[in-house]
This record gives sequence, C-alpha cells and structure tokens, in this order.
Amino acid sequence: MSEILLGITGGIAAYKSAMLVSKLVQHGCGVSVVMTQSATELIAPKTFEALSRRTVRTSVFHTDRIYAHIELARQADLFCIAPATANILAKAANGIADDLVSTLILSFDGPVLFAPAMNTAMWNKAAVQRNVRQLREDGALFIGPENGHLSCGETGAGRMAEPEKIVEEILRHIHP
Ligand SMILES: Cc1cc2nc3c(=O)[nH]c(=O)nc-3n(C[C@H](O)[C@H](O)[C@H](O)COP(=O)(O)O)c2cc1C
Repeated sequence: MSEILLGITGGIAAYKSAMLVSKLVQHGCGVSVVMTQSATELIAPKTFEALSRRTVRTSVFHTDRIYAHIELARQADLFCIAPATANILAKAANGIADDLVSTLILSFDGPVLFAPAMNTAMWNKAAVQRNVRQLREDGALFIGPENGHLSCGETGAGRMAEPEKIVEEILRHIHP
C-alpha cells in the first residue's frame, strides 16, 4: 500500500482536499494528514480524520507521537501539500521549519508535490514566483495553479488544481 503524507495549509481551497483524501483512499493509498493552524481555521481536522480513518496532526509538540515530525516523513512515499499557501512556499524555499508541515518538508527525503492556491496578485508577486523557482531548482514538483474562478470573487491564475488531477499526478509519481 502506498503511503501519502498530505499537508494542508491555510487556503480556502482546503475544502477540496477532503475530496483528495477520499479519492486517494479509494485508490488504496494510506493517507496521513497534517495541517497548519491556519488550515484548521478553514476546515475541521475531524473531516480528514473521518476520510483517512487516521489521526490528523497539527503541531510538533501537542501530538500523540513525540517524533511525529520525523516518523510521518519516514513512512511516506510522497508528500503532497494541497493547498499550498504563499506562506508555505516561502518557508519551504528558505528551509524554515516553524510548524509541523514545514518541519516535515525538511525531514522528508522523497518527492514533494506542491499544489499552490492563492489570489492572482499573490501568485504573480515577484517573491512568490522567486520561491517557486527556488523550490523547482531544489527538486520540488508542482501541479497548477490553474486559471479560473477564485473564491475572492476574481478570475485569474491561482485556482488549486482539481483533486482528480492531483490524484493522477500523485499516482504517476508513486507508480511510474
Ligand atoms: C478565508 C481565507 C482564505 C485564504 N486563502 C488563502 C489562499 O488561498 N492562499 C494563500 O496563500 N493564503 C490564503 N489565506 C491567507 C493565509 O491563511 C495566511 O497567509 C496564513 O498565514 C497561512 O498560514 P499557513 O501557510 O501556515 O497555513 C487565506 C486567509 C483567509 C482568512
């Protein structure tokens, strides 16, 4: 059984990650979900616990597993961050590890797939594009973002790739 680590950060597209977990489980993957504090403001960890049938972890310190920030990385075949905020891209591009999701990005040595989602102005910002370039150079994988309707009411680049496409991309990498 393939093991997917799914990091959910604080973008409104986090609601679509529920479908992503459900589809991965239906494909026979084991899915462990980790969330940032911002993500828990937008969608409840319980939703992901119900869909993955596993504990969802949100903190390096307040967790049932004292070495969660290392052990979750050891058991994963691929680490997908969906949605990936501008903030997590900046942290990952600079090796910052100040919460569970960003710490796991450093402790994981397999493929990391980012599915960015944000407002068009944020996505086009030089700093964000610089961070994406740096991450690509460092070997990170990306899917999207796509053009389309954004929850802020605008239309443009920044929409998270659809869960079906993210699942296809994940499966392509773990079963080449
Ligand atoms: C309703 C709402 C929606 C948000 N959507 C996004 C988003 O799609 N992309 C993004 O980069 N930030 C978004 N933010 C801002 C992030 O939540 C904020 O930058 C936060 O610090 C990100 O923290 P994290 O990367 O640790 O999850 C949103 C904030 C709110 C209140």
